[in-house]
Amino acid sequence: MINPMELTGKRILVTGASSGIGQNTGILLSKLGAELVLVARNNERLQETLSMLNGEAHASVSFDLSNIDDIKDMMDYICMDKKLDGVVYSAGIAPIVPVPSINYNKMLEIMTVNYFAFMEIVKLFSKRKYSNGGSIVAVSSVSSYAGWRGASLYCGSKAAIDGSIRALAIELSNKGIRVNSVVPSNIKTKMLSDVTQYAGEEELDVITARQPLGLGNPDDVANAIAFLLSDAARFITGSSLVVDGGYLAQ
Ligand SMILES: NC(=O)c1ccc[n+]([C@@H]2O[C@H](COP(=O)([O-])OP(=O)(O)OC[C@H]3O[C@@H](n4cnc5c(N)ncnc54)[C@H](OP(=O)(O)O)[C@@H]3O)[C@@H](O)[C@H]2O)c1
Repeated sequence: MINPMELTGKRILVTGASSGIGQNTGILLSKLGAELVLVARNNERLQETLSMLNGEAHASVSFDLSNIDDIKDMMDYICMDKKLDGVVYSAGIAPIVPVPSINYNKMLEIMTVNYFAFMEIVKLFSKRKYSNGGSIVAVSSVSSYAGWRGASLYCGSKAAIDGSIRALAIELSNKGIRVNSVVPSNIKTKMLSDVTQYAGEEELDVITARQPLGLGNPDDVANAIAFLLSDAARFITGSSLVVDGGYLAQ
């Protein structure tokens, strides 16, 4: 049977692979035949993800993506023997920062993990030393398009992603690199429980009511990511694929 989302022979870097969307994406991509390199800070949880993957030859690298200057060393290590064919950038943080609490350090913290590190990885991936082309998928958010209280920095970091992928898609097309994002709404992960813990449990009901199809599962996003990575999406670049259970349709 033909599987248009087959990823056999593709080596894919997944950041944020220790939890939530990144973890579920890693598991799905391995079932589709990909060889994975998993990145996040928490090594114990990375090993957990590794143990859930199908197939052999996967690897993990415990790395803090806020160390921008060391990302090149990380990529050199990852690509020592073999290049990459794709990147999933799912690492992200969503601290609540009300306007009076905004300061440069908080801006830098959020932008570094959610956006700057993504751009640094894209830059390196586009060099022949690290890939011969491929597909890049960033995990953005409906927060790129719709605001919520305390999220001005988070929303800005996600809008930066969606702004950049369009320009990157144009600039990197001649290198055979496609660049897209997925745009999830509220998905049942640790990040959502952290946010609702802060805002109160009743906030979860409010959030759920705003999504016609209810809360999403990490697999709902992983499926969209796998599609964008695969050759089934070979004519899609510079797109932001909304995976939101109808949140933005209203
Ligand atoms: N859940 C939602 O409702 C939702 C909605 C829209 C968009 N998103 C986006 O989806 C992505 C994944 O989020 P999630 O919901 O799966 O959250 P999650 O379960 O909290 O996962 C976040 C991941 O990011 C990694 N990470 C955070 N800071 C890092 C750093 N400095 N260096 C390396 N890795 C780092 C974490 O790993 P370590 O802690 O091990 O480093 C973890 O693997 C994020 O970009 C988020 O903004 C989520």
